[in-house]
Amino acid sequence: MTIPFIDLKTQYQAIKTQINARINSVLEHGQYIMGPEVKELEERLALYTGSKHCITVASGTEALLISLMALDISPGDEIITTPFTFVATAEVIVLLGARPIFVDVEPDTGNIDSTKIESAITSRTKAIMPVSLYGQVSDMDEINAIAARNGNLPVIEDAAQSFGSSYKGKKSCNLSTIGCTSFFPSKPLGCYGDGGAIFTNDESIAKACREIRVHGQSKRYVHTRLGVGGRMDTLQCAIVLAKLDRFDWEVSQRQLIGQRYIDLFVSKQIPGIIAPTIRSDRSSVYAQFTIQIQNRELIQKQLNDLGIPTAVHYPVPLNEQPAYQHLCCPDCTPISKQLSNQVMSLPMGPDLLRSDQDKIIDNLKVLFS
Ligand SMILES: Cc1ncc(COP(=O)(O)O)c(C=O)c1O
Repeated sequence: MTIPFIDLKTQYQAIKTQINARINSVLEHGQYIMGPEVKELEERLALYTGSKHCITVASGTEALLISLMALDISPGDEIITTPFTFVATAEVIVLLGARPIFVDVEPDTGNIDSTKIESAITSRTKAIMPVSLYGQVSDMDEINAIAARNGNLPVIEDAAQSFGSSYKGKKSCNLSTIGCTSFFPSKPLGCYGDGGAIFTNDESIAKACREIRVHGQSKRYVHTRLGVGGRMDTLQCAIVLAKLDRFDWEVSQRQLIGQRYIDLFVSKQIPGIIAPTIRSDRSSVYAQFTIQIQNRELIQKQLNDLGIPTAVHYPVPLNEQPAYQHLCCPDCTPISKQLSNQVMSLPMGPDLLRSDQDKIIDNLKVLFS
């Protein structure tokens, strides 16, 4: 039997009644676009993160794009981010004619190395966009301080993977000017299609995001600014609402399972595996449980043959991707390059069975001894 990489079926079975009731309720009222569940979800998520405003949008990518548009990012502007991320982080910058400035990451967390940000700032820098990779946020205090002393640059947290995690007692998505998350099905809080959300405490940014998500419309058929068709549909909001009731339990399960992996790697003394590092002032939601190894391809094949799926997040840094390689020399970010050759994600999720986790660890122990 193959272990599921992410087990969404068990999750659905556990909350089937609530999910089905929520879906049925939307089918009954029929307001598929901007129905009452949209506002209800925005209020619940704002409360959850402690942010003043939550604006749901069509995806995590759209959340990032709309945020940059709300900040008036234009051709020639520079946005500081990392190349060791999902492509959407840089894609939205380039779509607006701006330029991603790739700063290297920390070798143990994969998050942006905050000590390298300041030297990358120029007169064209318009924002800093750290990515909360694998579910753990970056050094947000340091990044916010750098932004403040460099002309109050806005900081956009790409929190697509970290909704539910905390930093110094505050929730991811509410740690900087703007936080953007994704409800892609495999994310810690996922819907059953595409969805995302923007969080901010800034009234004018929130207003701009709300307008941009509906074609720049301030009133019906009054298009004050350039926008996109970026709404999250009512059914997806209803599904996230049903999932929210189980979310605290899921976050604590993810953390227990993540910690158990780490403890087992230590107690079983498996040589050649570097387990994830979680900084003491923050928690991870383990969107991915990602280790570092040598000979990844061989190990992946051997695990796959044993019914243990794995994945690579991410095999190529963005500054080596054909569409982005002209933007930065790959040699400028050696840690990103090294990580992209060594990272491997293991099955993870709130419903991962203890027996499956033991099977994964025991097989890794055999393969590495
Ligand atoms: C770091 C990061 N940013 C942005 C996104 C884009 O989110 P979505 O797939 O919802 O558009 C993802 C999703 O995989 C992501 O992992």
